[in-house]
Amino acid sequence: MDKIIIEGGKRLSGTIPISGAKNAALTLIPCALLTEEPLTLRNLPRLADIDGFQHLMNQFGITTSIQGTRPEDFGRVMTLEAPRITSTVAPYELVRKMRASILVLGPMLARMGEATVSLPGGCAIGNRPIDLHLKAIEAFGAEIELAQGYVRARAPDGGLPGGEFDFPVVSVGATENALMAAVLANGTSRLFNAAREPEIVDLCNLLVAMGAQIEGIGTSDVTIHGVRRLHGATYRVMADRIEAGSYACAAAITGGDVLLEGAKAEEMQATLHALRNIGIHVESEAKGVRVGANGRLRAVNLSTAPYPGLATDMQAQLMALLTRAEGTSVLTETIFENRYMHVPELNRMGANIETSGRTAIVHGVERLTGAEVMATDLRASMSLVIAGLAAEGQTQVRRLYHLDRGYERLEEKLALVGAQVERIGDE
Ligand code: UD1
Repeated sequence: MDKIIIEGGKRLSGTIPISGAKNAALTLIPCALLTEEPLTLRNLPRLADIDGFQHLMNQFGITTSIQGTRPEDFGRVMTLEAPRITSTVAPYELVRKMRASILVLGPMLARMGEATVSLPGGCAIGNRPIDLHLKAIEAFGAEIELAQGYVRARAPDGGLPGGEFDFPVVSVGATENALMAAVLANGTSRLFNAAREPEIVDLCNLLVAMGAQIEGIGTSDVTIHGVRRLHGATYRVMADRIEAGSYACAAAITGGDVLLEGAKAEEMQATLHALRNIGIHVESEAKGVRVGANGRLRAVNLSTAPYPGLATDMQAQLMALLTRAEGTSVLTETIFENRYMHVPELNRMGANIETSGRTAIVHGVERLTGAEVMATDLRASMSLVIAGLAAEGQTQVRRLYHLDRGYERLEEKLALVGAQVERIGDE
C-alpha cells in the first residue's frame, strides 16, 4: 500500500489549483439517471470515489465516457447517457465501498418508479443512518421496504405524487436525495429545514439547467414543482471548498503564502473567518483566495455546524493547525460523533490534545515532530499531512486510499508550492 513521506519545515509558497468538489460531483453524477439525454460534467476531480460512482452508473446501464483531458491536467470531463436503464439495483459490493451510493435512490425512483439500494453499513465517522433519506421520499409518496440489507423504494403507478417534509436534523445527503426524487414528481413538493450547503446549490443549479423548477435555492425552505421530463445539460462542477480550506491550513501552519486558484471565498466564509481569527491573512482575489501567515498562530474556539456554519469536514485540518497556536483552543464537533480519530495520531506527533465527548481541547505546543502515522478517514488523514508539513523531521502517512478518495494528486499539488513530499509504494 502506498504511503506519503513528508520532510517537514518547508514554507509553502506559490499557487495551488483547486479541483472540482468531490461532494458536489457525487450528487451531480446521479442526475444522469433523470434524463434520457446526455449529461456532460466538466471539472470533475480525478478521485477514487468518482471512479467508483462511474462504475455504479455503468451497472445501471448508463454509458459513460471521458473526453479530451491530458493526464497532466487536473480535472476531467465526463458524459453520461442513459437512454435506457437496465437495472434498478445498487448492489452491496459497490455501496459498501462508497456511502454516497445512497444518492441514486431518489433519482432512480423518480425515473423508474422503483429503486433498490443496499444499506451502506458501518462508517468510520460514527453511526450514519439514512432514515431521513427514506422518510423524505416516503413523504413524497414512495413505499419503502427493508429486507436482506437492502432498501426498496416504489412509487405508485403513474409516479410519485410529491409532498412535504420537514427535516428534524439538517442532512446534506437526505436533502439531495429528496430534491432528485421530487423534480419529476406529478405535483409540487416542499422541503423545510433543508440543508443549504454550496454543493446543494450546485445540485439545484444543474437540475434547473436540465429543466427542473425549483424555488428557494440556497435557503432552508425549498419548493419543487415536478415536471414531466428533464433534458440533458453541460455543467461545470463547483470548486472544492474543503480542498481549498485544507490547503489554506497547510499554508498557514508553515507560515506560507499560497493562492488557492479557483477557490470561491463566498462559499467558505466560516473557514476563512476561523483562519482570520487564528491570525492568518486572507484575501479574495480575482483568481481565487490568497492566504498568508507570518508564523504566529492564535488559539480560538470553534464549533462545527450545518452551512453557513463551520463545516465538519474542516474540523480535523483546523485542529492540526491549532496544535501550533499560542494558547488553548476548544473545538466542538456537533455533526458527527466519533470524529476525533486523528487526535491520538496528532498527539503522537507531539500535539497536546484532550477529548471529552464532542469537545476537544487543544493546548498549543512549540513544536511537532515527525512520526509514522495513519488515519481512518479522509479529513483525519489530511490533518496528519498538515501536521507533517510543520513537524521537525520526517512524517510517513499510511493508508493513502483515504486521501485518494478526496484529494486529487495531493503530493503533486503540495510539491507545486515547495513542500518536500513523496509518494512511495510500500513493500
Ligand atoms: C455529507 C458529506 C460529508 C459531510 C456531511 C456533513 C457528501 C458525499 N458527504 O455527508 O462529507 O461531512 O455531509 O456536512 O456530500 N443523519 C441522520 N439521518 C439521516 C442522514 C443523516 O440522522 O438519514 C445525521 C447524521 O448522522 C449526521 C447529520 O445527520 O449526524 C448530518 O449528516 P449528513 O448531512 O446527512 O451527512 P452526509 O450527507 O452523509
